[in-house]
Amino acid sequence: MRMSDVIRQLRHEQHTVRSRPRLLHRYEAFLPVSESTPPLSLGEGFTPLLHARTLGRAIGCPQLFVKFEGTNPTGSFKDRGMVLAVAKAMEGGAKAVICASTGNTAASAAAYGAAAGMEVIVVLPAGQTAAGKLLQAQAAGARVVAVDGNFDDALRIVRELVAAADPRHPLTLVNSVNPLRLEGQKTGAFEVCDDLGGAPDYLAIPVGNAGNISAYWAGFTAYRSAGMVETAPVMLGFQAEGAAPLVTGQRVEHPATVATAIRIGDPASASLARRARDESGGRIDAVSDEQILDAYRDLARHEGLFVEPASAASVAGIRQLAAAGEIDPGATIVCVLTGHGLKDPDTAKRNALPPVSASATVDGVYEALGW
Ligand code: F0G
Repeated sequence: MRMSDVIRQLRHEQHTVRSRPRLLHRYEAFLPVSESTPPLSLGEGFTPLLHARTLGRAIGCPQLFVKFEGTNPTGSFKDRGMVLAVAKAMEGGAKAVICASTGNTAASAAAYGAAAGMEVIVVLPAGQTAAGKLLQAQAAGARVVAVDGNFDDALRIVRELVAAADPRHPLTLVNSVNPLRLEGQKTGAFEVCDDLGGAPDYLAIPVGNAGNISAYWAGFTAYRSAGMVETAPVMLGFQAEGAAPLVTGQRVEHPATVATAIRIGDPASASLARRARDESGGRIDAVSDEQILDAYRDLARHEGLFVEPASAASVAGIRQLAAAGEIDPGATIVCVLTGHGLKDPDTAKRNALPPVSASATVDGVYEALGW
């Protein structure tokens, strides 16, 4: 094509597309939005679905795809549900939102709350939030309270605060127990189907409070009911070993894992997640910290995808099932990578080679590189 033709085409696209559509607008037929819902957006959604060829080949699943949710505005999938929860809160005249969080929900609530001009309160388990997430909440001006307890304690406290709120200072809860969060997160499933031209055979996803696996299943079944796709995937959820109440059937009192984002003892959406598992013929398994970190390193080094550790639970889980011969090698598999690696610089540092020092000369750098 000649340069002038290329420019003419770009001009044409400028007029027809203008900018990317808003997520809530694109999928409005499937969402509880109306003309009176404020057009809140930070550019969420439309995240890339990537064919992980190298990792897929190594695992023995050549049709392995990953959906990289780290490209959302605050670096995690939470933005899909938060944009809807906060837009609806604005629509209803709310002035303050509150959440409990291991960090990503907090970062997202802080950003969307700031954009909506609201007061944002986040309650975190002290000492368990990755540095990047905490800074995101602080930077957006949220009021951050760190409690001496775990995520389950934080969630119980915010639920009680909301229930007991003074009517002069009402609070809107934006955890995934707010059904609008799950409604918004369904859009991840819609995008997977749109990008693949159909549903995958398997959808693998990390499980913490169990909201996202439930939302994806709701999205796939809604798309199937509407005739947008013919099938729905088998749902594969992965919890972190030591914090896997859906696997062991036991509430975990003191879960310990590298994947702090999914360090949850008593998942709020456990029954929805079990339904997603059972209706899809899927399973929820546990993966160890070591498996999570292996997948975390491999995603960065072989695919160029820097994710936060909890995200890698989906790939770790697929590797485990493939090694056990429990997955058809020809199947199309989508692993959801839920958050960005920059969220957790401390884990990244512990797993990376340190920079080598050199004098500020060509020879010095040659020497440092061992050439
Ligand atoms: N991956 C990441 C990166 C997360 O931050 C979370 C949850 C999950 C997976 C699990 O999703 O809870 O819907 O099953 N983080 C929550 C938070 C708990 O507070 O940010 P889920």
